[in-house]
Amino acid sequence: MQIRDERVEDGEAIGQVTSAAFAGASHSSGTEPRIIEALRQAGALTVSLVATSDEAGIVGHVAFSPVRINQDSAQWYGLGPVSVAPQMQRHGIGRSLIREGLARLAALDADGCVVFGDPAYYGRFGFVSDPLLTYGGEPSRYFQRIVLKGETPSGDVSYHAAFDAA
Ligand SMILES: CC(C)(COP(=O)(O)OP(=O)(O)OC[C@H]1O[C@@H](n2cnc3c(N)ncnc32)[C@H](O)[C@@H]1OP(=O)(O)O)[C@@H](O)C(=O)NCCC(=O)NCCS
Repeated sequence: MQIRDERVEDGEAIGQVTSAAFAGASHSSGTEPRIIEALRQAGALTVSLVATSDEAGIVGHVAFSPVRINQDSAQWYGLGPVSVAPQMQRHGIGRSLIREGLARLAALDADGCVVFGDPAYYGRFGFVSDPLLTYGGEPSRYFQRIVLKGETPSGDVSYHAAFDAA
């Protein structure tokens, strides 16, 4: 299994893996492939990594895009969507994608990253919920952040407009 940046020709396979991964997820909006495409079209896929295997091609994907804090731009990013093909889950692929993605953000001099998801999973990477950094104006244990450098910001976080893609 290898992790690399997405290439121009990967769009369709990334959409398929994302669709398949989220098909069984109760928290899915069903719009995740369109969100990735909208981020790509907007030039907002700051980091977009695929996991590939020799036999199966693209088996996982993770996207990171810029977020705003209190409507101001910041060197902060949102993790997601992240997907691993259903038959390949629980083999460490998601972990490798997320670890590599966070390393890429750090190399880009990012200050931090947020994610909305299961604390039992994202806590492993160092994500923690912080009542001072909210999403939708309310603290949530599912909304978490990791500081990569500098001060810990406070405020309300908004994702790129592509997340409204329907
Ligand atoms: C979430 C996802 C990307 C994780 O990728 P993965 O390759 O299966 O995960 P890893 O192999 O790196 O990690 C597996 C470990 O995390 C745990 N885990 C996996 N998904 C989890 C979840 N949603 N919540 C809590 N724990 C989870 C597993 O129990 C496993 O732990 P173990 O090794 O102690 O058994 C993948 O399960 C997926 O595509 N899910 C559907 C789409 C989705 O929900 N994306 C995230 C939206 S926030």
